[in-house]
Amino acid sequence: MSTQSRAGGLDIARLRSEFPALHQSVHGKPLVYLDNAATTHKPRSVIDATVRFYEQDNANVHRGLHALSARATQAYEMARDKVRGFINAADASECIFTSGVTDSLNLAAYTLGAGLKRGDRIVLSHMEHHSNIVPWQIVAGRVGAEVVPLPVTDRGELDLARAGEVIDERTKVVSCVFVSNTLGTINDVHRVCTLARAAGAVSVIDAAQAAAHLSIDVRAIGCDFLALTGHKMYGPTGIGVLYGRRALLDRLPPFRGGGEMIDQCTFAGTTFAPPPARFEAGTPNIAGAIGLGVAIDFLASQDRATWAEHEHELLVRATGALERVDGLRVVGRATHKIATVSFVLEWAHPYDVAPILDHAGVAVRTGHHCTQPLMDRLGLKATIRASMAAYNTAEEVDTLVAALHKARRMLAG
Ligand code: ALA
Repeated sequence: MSTQSRAGGLDIARLRSEFPALHQSVHGKPLVYLDNAATTHKPRSVIDATVRFYEQDNANVHRGLHALSARATQAYEMARDKVRGFINAADASECIFTSGVTDSLNLAAYTLGAGLKRGDRIVLSHMEHHSNIVPWQIVAGRVGAEVVPLPVTDRGELDLARAGEVIDERTKVVSCVFVSNTLGTINDVHRVCTLARAAGAVSVIDAAQAAAHLSIDVRAIGCDFLALTGHKMYGPTGIGVLYGRRALLDRLPPFRGGGEMIDQCTFAGTTFAPPPARFEAGTPNIAGAIGLGVAIDFLASQDRATWAEHEHELLVRATGALERVDGLRVVGRATHKIATVSFVLEWAHPYDVAPILDHAGVAVRTGHHCTQPLMDRLGLKATIRASMAAYNTAEEVDTLVAALHKARRMLAG
């Protein structure tokens, strides 16, 4: 039986049948979608739930006393409780709906930033996405705090042996990515949070790339805040979550003002609702939240251990075969990785190769992946990144590698 239909204990054909977008051709070739770190495709159940909401339950939440509003509110709050279960938060009020990880990290940076002062230190790993750098730089610039990188090794791992050089008594926030979007490195976020706590700092974890691949337990990690996005975990775009420990959320000021986040509003002043409403001004992305809840149901219905084994086999196969392409160097050699492989070619710029891959039906991402400081650290401008999900097959990895051999014949002269 081919790996296309079965890999180890995983029935890939069945899994793939749940994802309508995978079954198409591009440029006359079957789509090989290896850009899952940018966004995953959506299973039928998520698509159907979103359509069903608009067809049957469409109403605003927390605002109406009519039947549709009650149904929409119930579905929205049920989705919040599914998020709570997914990350093992103590209470659903700790899960704030946002528009995605960028929004979540801006929320964390601006509200925590309100409590920072000149000379305070914000420590971020050197492998952060720009969404976990720029908001902190903006708030640091306003108050005179400093942003300091936590070093990364040549292998693309956190250099935690050197954490003591940067995490000190001035440090008020330590923020770190769980899984690098560029290299696939899985970081020891429990240790990062332990170091932050020991220094009296608040910890913030960007779990954007982790949610589709690893189990997330905020209490086991020991983080104060954690950011998720729906569209990288088989859910819709435009929906995300900021988890925050309730004791901390209670102390934070609002981020945005507007409807449904107040307790009392007069022209003399406004008092604010408790979390999570305090941080959800305006009409939220109701369909997105419901879709995210269904994506969580979808993940819960899968054998995630078998998924992890399959994804690891894809990583090993891809890394080995890519390294046999002449002049190709894999970037990021962490011991613990998800199935994301970044590489550079000595015979071509990534942007010259991506169209050749595209014509072979292969979707990958090229560029700096919104991690320019990491690229600078590694002495690179851009990589080609193949990021795999549970629905990818060994044959698809082979198609990528064959297309690279062809690109080499065309470009290497
Ligand atoms: N952050 C996403 C990526 O790495 C968009 O591609």
